[in-house]
Order: sequence, then C-alpha cells, then structure tokens
Amino acid sequence: MGKVHVLNHPLIQHKLTYIRDKHTGTKEFRELVDEVAMLMAFEITRNLPLQEKTIETPVMESQTQVLAGKKIGLIPILRAGLGMVDGMLKLIPAARVGHVGLYRDPETLKPHEYYIKLPSDIKERELIVIDPMLATGGSANDAIHSLKKRGAKQIRLMCLVGAPEGVEVIQNEHPDVDIFLAALDEKLDEHGYIIPGLGDAGDRLYGTK
Ligand code: URA
Repeated sequence: MGKVHVLNHPLIQHKLTYIRDKHTGTKEFRELVDEVAMLMAFEITRNLPLQEKTIETPVMESQTQVLAGKKIGLIPILRAGLGMVDGMLKLIPAARVGHVGLYRDPETLKPHEYYIKLPSDIKERELIVIDPMLATGGSANDAIHSLKKRGAKQIRLMCLVGAPEGVEVIQNEHPDVDIFLAALDEKLDEHGYIIPGLGDAGDRLYGTK
C-alpha cells in the first residue's frame, strides 16, 4: 500500500494556516500556495538518487555529489493544480510539465478527460501528480489511471490538503503511489468539500466564484 506522508514542517504548517483562513485574499493565497509548493518540493525530493562528482574547489580537488539525473515530470490537474507548479519549478527547474484536464459529467458522474498533454518520455520519468485538494479522490484517481495507461511507471501524488476518503481511494486503486500532503483533514461534508479544508482551491487561486 502507498504511504501517506504528512509534511509537518513548521513553515508549511504556518503558511497553511493562512491559506485556510477565509480572510486571506487572492493575491496572498496564491503567493502562499506557491511558497508551500516550493517547501513541499524540498520534502518530496528527499530521496532522489545522488552520484559522485569530482570537482576542484579553489583550494583542492574534492569528491562531491550531484543529482544522478533522475528525470522528473510534474503533472498538475487543471485547474487548481497549476497554482503549485511554479513553486515546485523553483526547486526542480529541469522538470518537464504535463497537464491533465478532467471534469465529471454531472449526470453520469463519470470522468471526462478533456485535455491531456504530456512529456513524450513519461515512461522514464518520476511523475508527481499535483492536485491541491484530495477530496473524493476522483480526479487524482482518474488522472493516475490515465498516466498509467500511457506507460507511466513511477508516480507520486502531491496535495495540499487530503480527506481520509480520498486517501483511501488512492491507496486502494494505486497501492504503488505514495501520497504527500501538507495536512490530512477530518472528512468530506455533504457537498464534497474537505473540512475544515480551505474552500474551493481553484476559486481562491483565481478569484472566481
Ligand atoms: N475541491 C476543492 O477545491 N475544495 C474542496 O474542499 C474539495 C474539492
């Protein structure tokens, strides 16, 4: 079963409090999400492989380490996932970015993928699917199925806030996928919102309602 990593770093928790606060306006919300995404990128890349490199410092030759060239792909789920991409790219600038757009048919409740554009070599990349709110898990689940269908082999899921319901769906459907969260909240309400949550992440990022 995939592991759930709640990133309890004090800076992440502090910023998340202001992200949750309904008095935080769009500009500040967006900036805070960007900062938390950057901090989460730091944690999520903790186990990237390193390789030896010999360099010359101004003083002497030194045996040091650099990243072993593991290729990363960031896959934001439209639209709220976009809000976390720039923050992650600040720390992983060489990552390629693919996009997945999904909506749920209000009648059949079946997912409909209206857009997908991925790096051509997703089979060789470690993919990080980005969905700020892991609520029912429907979109993340569908996006991960879609990536696997196209050959993706290594996938992690990164969210700001998760509900136990969504975590369970991903763990059941994708036991190979680890989940990284800034917080694991209590549950979903009757409208599918995470509680306490932060409201609609897309609306708060883009100032829509
Ligand atoms: N999507 C959101 O943006 N917020 C929630 O609480 C649940 C789903």
